[in-house]
Amino acid sequence: MATPSIRILGTGAHAPTRVLTNAELSAKIETSDEWIVTRSGIRERRVAGPEEATSDMAVAAARAALADAGIAASEIDLLVLATVTPDLTMPASACSVQHKLGLPHTTACFDLSAACSGFVYGLDTAAAMVQSGRYKRALLIGSEKLSTIIDWSDRTTCVLFGDGAAAVVLGPSDASGAGLIDVKLGAYGDSLDLLYVPKGGSTHPPTAESIAAGDHFIKMKGKELFKLAVRAMAETARDILAKNGLTSDDIGLIIPHQANQRIIEAVAKQLQLPLERFFVNVDRYGNTSAASIPIAIDEARRSGRIRPGDVTLLVAFGAGLTYGSALVRW
Ligand SMILES: CC(C)(COP(=O)(O)OP(=O)(O)OC[C@H]1O[C@@H](n2cnc3c(N)ncnc32)[C@H](O)[C@@H]1OP(=O)(O)O)[C@@H](O)C(=O)NCCC(=O)NCCS
Repeated sequence: MATPSIRILGTGAHAPTRVLTNAELSAKIETSDEWIVTRSGIRERRVAGPEEATSDMAVAAARAALADAGIAASEIDLLVLATVTPDLTMPASACSVQHKLGLPHTTACFDLSAACSGFVYGLDTAAAMVQSGRYKRALLIGSEKLSTIIDWSDRTTCVLFGDGAAAVVLGPSDASGAGLIDVKLGAYGDSLDLLYVPKGGSTHPPTAESIAAGDHFIKMKGKELFKLAVRAMAETARDILAKNGLTSDDIGLIIPHQANQRIIEAVAKQLQLPLERFFVNVDRYGNTSAASIPIAIDEARRSGRIRPGDVTLLVAFGAGLTYGSALVRW
């Protein structure tokens, strides 16, 4: 197992105040609390209003992470924002976050697009950049306003997603041995159409017809996606443990991407582990894509489910189809 050279100095999260319950959805579309809970485990999700952009949620999460780390915004020289719901198609929302946080002009800022695996992809990217010695302290943020790319009349997708943000501050490790042990990333680019937004990009620029047809909203083949998600998450978890000479007994807590309670249960079964070893908050947030894993990390830390010295396994899967895993010692 490698000695970490980069560690997480602080974490923070932000959830929009508006809670949208299954009962409210059931009043608007042909669904029920019972169906949603049985099939997904989701009971409620947060929805950001028009006054709260992806960058605003990112800023709130970043401020909380900086306060937790005891680091001033002026000390950050790298900002990576993982999102598939940027404020604008161009430029990167990371630049807007930089401005709102008052970070210096010498801060490198960019968005990273890896959907629900965005945080784990961002962890590898930001850690490598800090490890290079060219950057000292990084802010890695996952922030999503998925409510804006969901068709609220499509019951097969709208019940599953939510809005939110979370951030971590990364910096060089100290002598404690805490930090990022390893990351593994991959993608199934051949299965892109299982979860995507068909139009509105450069291959099909938006037209009145495409908008009327709802082609700028998320389309998903849930059943196929479910199977691939379980397989990819179990495989990447096994791979990273084996590569580092670890077994599941060495892991304190597994933090999977929060898409569906049943996906998490199926991954636990594949890994022959009890569900209690997994952190689950999908019931309260639904799927918040790139924000899902860092929100879970922040909640797990604050609720005492992560203790100093613990090794946590992060496991992600999302549109692309991307996947990834990471090992972090606290
Ligand atoms: C979406 C998902 C919850 C659906 O569960 P499922 O057990 O596969 O359900 P199905 O798609 O087979 O649908 C079963 C029935 O429920 C209906 N249904 C779908 N959404 C419904 C809803 N919100 N309320 C009520 N009924 C619904 C379907 O129309 C279907 O009806 P039919 O049998 O008459 O055709 C599940 O496939 C899933 O979670 N997939 C992965 C999604 C995901 O995680 N995406 C993000 C990955 S990062």
